[in-house]
Amino acid sequence: MSDSRRAFLERVLGASTVLGLPLVAERPAARPPWPAAGPVDERFWRDLKSQFVFPASQLPMNSANMCPAPRAVVEAVERATRDVDADVSYQNRAKYNELREAVRSRIARLLGVTPEEIAIVRNASEANNIVVGGMPLQAGDEVVLLDQNHPTNNVAWDVRAARFGFLVKRVGFPTPPSNAAEVIDRMAAPITARTKVLAFSDVSNSSGLAMPTAELCRLGRARGIHVHVDGAQTFGAARRNLAELGCDSYSASGQKWVLGPREIGILYVRAERIASMWPGVIGVGWGAGAEPSVKGAGKFETLGQRNDASTAGLAAAIEFHERLGPAVVEARVRELGTRLYRGLAEAGFELQTPRDPALRLGVVVVAADPAKARDWHERLYRTHGVIGSNTGGLRLSPTICSTLEDVDRAVEALRSLG
Ligand SMILES: Cc1ncc(COP(=O)(O)O)c(C=O)c1O
Repeated sequence: MSDSRRAFLERVLGASTVLGLPLVAERPAARPPWPAAGPVDERFWRDLKSQFVFPASQLPMNSANMCPAPRAVVEAVERATRDVDADVSYQNRAKYNELREAVRSRIARLLGVTPEEIAIVRNASEANNIVVGGMPLQAGDEVVLLDQNHPTNNVAWDVRAARFGFLVKRVGFPTPPSNAAEVIDRMAAPITARTKVLAFSDVSNSSGLAMPTAELCRLGRARGIHVHVDGAQTFGAARRNLAELGCDSYSASGQKWVLGPREIGILYVRAERIASMWPGVIGVGWGAGAEPSVKGAGKFETLGQRNDASTAGLAAAIEFHERLGPAVVEARVRELGTRLYRGLAEAGFELQTPRDPALRLGVVVVAADPAKARDWHERLYRTHGVIGSNTGGLRLSPTICSTLEDVDRAVEALRSLG
């Protein structure tokens, strides 16, 4: 690595290494207690909270929507913003293209796929819509959806179907399913020889249901169906090897579980599927003809001028995630989710999230009528500093910036609201 590149990365990321590239000595204030330095016990997680900038009075448990980024990410975004505004020349900004490729490669490695299969887009909404709008579907074709999908992987299909005349079929789970076999059977039931797409959330943002994704991918793959997995609730929360999983596409956002910045996300498209999918936006970088000059999934990201600071922030987030260790993070997300689920169940709340631990991960939803959910959501925040989400029920989704004690406090707070 050149001295200027090293200096740039150190300035932007404030770290001793980034994406595996060694840099200069780390500033003590920016050094989290990485797992390699000692046991990953409750004290470790309490210490890790000092890496976040939110006040001690707050309990952010809204990872399903937005996580607080650690200081390393916040500072990387700030430094890159200043850097660009201090010198907007192409010459100065060229280094961010290099950084974007480094981020792409590291994300590809994290997900067990190739860099050519990863597009760096603006968020999961955009990634989902690229798939919905890009599939070559026509009248007579059928799409099977989980009815709990996010609108960008749900109503977005209806809008396309209204234009192109294909049929959208939905599978619902009015009560939480008891086991994976039940989910697979129900998802398989509407599949016919005309089914071209099976699209579902890896983990549902509305109920916390964790789908038997590998089995559903196998089922779709065996019939030549494109399986689209919305990974907004798993990217950065649970390890995923997409090549082994066998999905055809996977979408995710930066600002959720991976603790990255806003307005950056990813879309994975399996190499064999890239050519047949149409991009929505053609911008600088596409090239001159109808065929893209850009390689692989890069054809889905010619989106005009991008925010380089988000790239720098995502690089810092991936670095943070990898230094903690994806397995350590996943185990912690499960531990927090289980503590929350059990605490709420023991306190007598009705839960929309399945009881089977194999069918949930980090998202837990308490059933409530809309007025009650609104009231809980508001008072939890105003009175107790608990940041949740009103999704029709009350959703809590803690991640590694919470301790077990924080989860217990949130349960107690909700119990006290009655
Ligand atoms: C499952 C799922 N997909 C997509 C999205 C959209 O994410 P973003 O707003 O970052 O585009 C969300 C957001 O909550 C989600 O939960």
